[in-house]
Amino acid sequence: MADYSVLENEARERIGAAADLSALEALRIEFLGKQGSVSGLLKSLGAMSPEERLAKAPAIQALREAVANALAARKEAMEAAELEARLATETLDLSLPAPELPKGSVHPVSQVMDELAEIFADLGFSVATGPEIEGEWHNFTALNMPESHPARAMHDTFYFPDAAPDGRKMLLRTHTSPVQVRTMMSAGAPLRIIAPGRVYRSDSDATHTPMFHQVEGLVIDRDIHLGHLKWTLETFLKAFFEREDIVLRLRPSYFPFTEPSVEVDVGFALVNGKRVLGGSGDAPGHGWMELLGSGMVNRRVIEMSGLDPDQWQGFAFGVGVDRLAMLKYGMDDLRAFFDGDVRWLKHYGFSFLDQPTLSAGVGAQRTHAP
Ligand code: DAH
Repeated sequence: MADYSVLENEARERIGAAADLSALEALRIEFLGKQGSVSGLLKSLGAMSPEERLAKAPAIQALREAVANALAARKEAMEAAELEARLATETLDLSLPAPELPKGSVHPVSQVMDELAEIFADLGFSVATGPEIEGEWHNFTALNMPESHPARAMHDTFYFPDAAPDGRKMLLRTHTSPVQVRTMMSAGAPLRIIAPGRVYRSDSDATHTPMFHQVEGLVIDRDIHLGHLKWTLETFLKAFFEREDIVLRLRPSYFPFTEPSVEVDVGFALVNGKRVLGGSGDAPGHGWMELLGSGMVNRRVIEMSGLDPDQWQGFAFGVGVDRLAMLKYGMDDLRAFFDGDVRWLKHYGFSFLDQPTLSAGVGAQRTHAP
């Protein structure tokens, strides 16, 4: 029987002496590569007579296996030694401060929406939502807005060129008020909801962006009157602005979906040329700022939403979320809200850990001081 032990011993010796992984790889190629010496022996089997092949094949196979095993074992040993060396030299100082991870911040609009949800949750309101792509009926008709209403005009509202499959004219909702209708229809009465979200109008200048945010409020119950509305708004605004001295002025107004309708103003003082909410707007050096629209829900809206207006009545209000954020946290350009400028977000954003709670205060600390 053929004997390849000399070859095998030589291979083992060289493998054992290989200094590093690349030397080991060179040896693997030398023995087992396509042109390798052991591969050559295997190839030579093909040219042998059957008898000779039978006599030599087992030994050649055994040689190949022995060399392959020796290579694998040496490789494993080298890698283990390398790890061992790293473990011995690298030390971990657990007392060092951890490197600061880059973290995002909460956008003021999200923060204010969270604050609103928290305040109204305490008053028994839940959060309702509706689609931003709305039908004309929910956005206008069910809210008692007549065909002649200016908001229905093409140049004020973003309509979609094509109607829905069922023929409805579709648009980007112009206010959150359609959520009133949708919630009355799906949940019935009694109801206490707020509906925050995006709304769209064909408007663009320093104080108007084509997309902005509103929050709608709706209470439907028995024997609801303007007193409930005023108390709720007062409680909400005091909690939101974290000032006990917020004073409201209700001014008669008109909205198709409320009757009677009121415009709500808040008193402010001029401090160093800046408006600071608080106090009566009639005091010297003070003024009134229009903040939100509201009123008792028009009985036609209640009826179109599938409820009996003789049994159920309620109040509603709508207010700009971006506007609330600007008033509370002092930004003065609405457009910057939606530019996505990281520097602005760093400055005005909030820590994700700063969750508004009524016990700890709904007002948030900025992640970076102004
Ligand atoms: N939907 C009105 C707007 O976008 C705001 C509004 C006014 C909402 C009065 C109401 C309300 O719910 O009662 O201008």
